[in-house]
Amino acid sequence: MEIDLMEWAQLAIRWIHMITGIAWIGASFYFVWLDMNLTPPVKDGYKDKAGVSGELWAVHGGGFYEVQKYRLAPPEIPPTLHWFKYEAYFTWFSGITLLTILYYFSADIYLIDRSIANISTDAAILIGVGSIVGGWIIYDLLCKSPLINNQAVFGVVLFILFTLAAFGLSHVFSGRGAYIHVGAIMGTIMFANVLMVIIPGQMALVSAAKKGEAPDPVYGLRAKQRSLHNNYFTLPVLFIMISNHYPMTYGNHYGWLLLAGISLVGVLVRHFFNMKNQGQAKQGFILLPIAFILFFAIAYAAAPKSEDQSSTEKVPFTTVEKIIQERCSSCHAAKPANADFETPPKGVKLATAAQILREKTRIKQQAVNTKTMPLGNATQMTDEERKLVGRWIAQGGLAN
Ligand code: HEC
Repeated sequence: MEIDLMEWAQLAIRWIHMITGIAWIGASFYFVWLDMNLTPPVKDGYKDKAGVSGELWAVHGGGFYEVQKYRLAPPEIPPTLHWFKYEAYFTWFSGITLLTILYYFSADIYLIDRSIANISTDAAILIGVGSIVGGWIIYDLLCKSPLINNQAVFGVVLFILFTLAAFGLSHVFSGRGAYIHVGAIMGTIMFANVLMVIIPGQMALVSAAKKGEAPDPVYGLRAKQRSLHNNYFTLPVLFIMISNHYPMTYGNHYGWLLLAGISLVGVLVRHFFNMKNQGQAKQGFILLPIAFILFFAIAYAAAPKSEDQSSTEKVPFTTVEKIIQERCSSCHAAKPANADFETPPKGVKLATAAQILREKTRIKQQAVNTKTMPLGNATQMTDEERKLVGRWIAQGGLAN
């Protein structure tokens, strides 16, 4: 019996990452929605006099809920006060653990692509960690600068900085490595916002309320700014989480630009929902078709150039079989020769003729349309070989 403990550990951590991520983002969506949908209580009514600034009724799961938000703090802090922070902490912790296991322990496989930059494992990890820590420092400094007072300008500056980061990282890491690091920078900013600004701000609020003092409004303001930033990060981060499955994104020559474009789609959609929640659905509606068109314009621009027309000479299967066996089967075989793998990655086997024929669509996606495979071009597949395989598929991909 052979169990691949590392693979099972990864599954468990990824599962945890998803569960806590859903809990975190779900709560974040809910509270942003809540905040934007509160209506002020009747003027000079008992709630207004009690310091309530907004209220809301909702029905869910067979019950009615009434929520009230206080202008500052309630007259008395209740014995049970719910905080929302562990979702964020565990999402970040599980994410960083996954990043470390996959991209740092196996940097040679996932993080480094020698056809992009020939760097050592240590250098790659240093750049990776540096970008994550540096990202937070730069963002935090920006938040402490006067720029924070202009939301739109702040957003544009942040967007440009992230695009630069994606550009830079895509020139030192594999496509996937670059994407995941941009995601990790965003995730870390979101997490650090909760840990270092939002929660301490709330603690100050609660402690002031307990002492019967008026809390410094700056804490509330800062926490709100940072939560709003987190809110706009959510959709791009979620995209990056699933981008792994779509080599046409990170595997594109302009993967960094695609990432910027798709993130913008996410931000536009998020902005529409924020406007809608504030009763501006009509004004904001135009954002949805813009996002839709942008998304498909990106898809169109990223499409692989039409099939190689340089030659119409028939490519025999034996040629393709030889290429695939030489370039792919060291990892993709029932018993991989590559010592990094106990079993064929993702269960994809490319050693026998039947296996190669069965996988031709995926071979095209991974090795012809993009250069995602061989991973990090470990086996040094040439462009000429990619063309031959592409031409064989275009000619029907048959066994003779
Ligand atoms: C150095 C080892 C290595 C080589 C060589 C290699 N691969 Fe892979 N391949 C991997 C790994 C690792 C994965 C899993 C990636 C992941 O975790 O998403 C993978 C995944 C795949 C997948 C599944 C992708 C998915 O997510 O559905 C396909 C298809 C594939 N490889 C095709 C190829 C082809 C075609 C070649 C040769 C041109 C090749 N590979 C060469 C390591 C390799």
